[in-house]
Amino acid sequence: MTNYRIAIDGPAASGKSTVSREVARNLKFMYVDSGALYRGMTWKAVREGVDVKDPEAVIDLMNRSEWDFFEEDLTLKFTIDGVDPTDHLRSEPVRERVADIAVIQEIRAFMVARLQETAAFGDLVMEGRDIGSVVFPDALFKYYLDADPEERARRRHKELLATEGRGEVSEVLSSLARRDKMDSTRKTAPLQIPLGARVINTTGMTIEEVVDRIVSEVNEHRAASA
Ligand code: CDP
Ligand code: CDP
Repeated sequence: MTNYRIAIDGPAASGKSTVSREVARNLKFMYVDSGALYRGMTWKAVREGVDVKDPEAVIDLMNRSEWDFFEEDLTLKFTIDGVDPTDHLRSEPVRERVADIAVIQEIRAFMVARLQETAAFGDLVMEGRDIGSVVFPDALFKYYLDADPEERARRRHKELLATEGRGEVSEVLSSLARRDKMDSTRKTAPLQIPLGARVINTTGMTIEEVVDRIVSEVNEHRAASA
């Protein structure tokens, strides 16, 4: 029997990470945060003083870096040149530059290939911007989570207050809008509703409601094909 792949796409703060992590935990599938790879490359560039607006330099840095992938507690993890960047991936310098890194075609080709290789780990839930459209277009389950921009900005703002103790909703809204625009207008693999994806507008929904819907649809399928 082939492995289950659940693809979850959508704009920033639509709930992808929270929902995907919970769905994976529920089903005992591996959780893969594809954005972490793009953030990891951005972290590496910042750390090495490489200008993210200089694609040649970023590609050169990527080709010189050694990436290793492994599974820990049903989560895909990785190191770049032996360092686990997890704790730095949501920092401000990374957040503000990641969309520039994600427009570089060679970087995307590298990340897509790495993400496709993770299928070897077994059943998985992967979240991102192009999972149902490019990484796993034949995934049995594809979801596109969305929420109103104001609601997404409120969610991110709440997180920023908790982690950094500061931030204005209006600033978060414009930062998200800028990244949404770059993500949906870029030439390669723009953010879009993948063919065959089920759209869930999470604006008025709790995390549990979104998780329950996905888990029950997968479980119904498992029961029917058992
Ligand atoms: O958590 P949030 O939605 O803010 O971001 P993320 O999923 O960590 O992704 C960060 C950035 O990486 C996005 O804004 C995209 O520019 C890029 N990305 C992408 O291009 N393709 C993916 N499959 C995942 C992320
Ligand atoms: O991964 P993505 O950027 O799409 O979003 P996230 O980081 O999973 O979710 C952003 C925030 O919204 C988190 O703090 C969630 O707890 C919250 N959220 C919510 O309040 N209601 C939902 N239905 C989904 C997420």
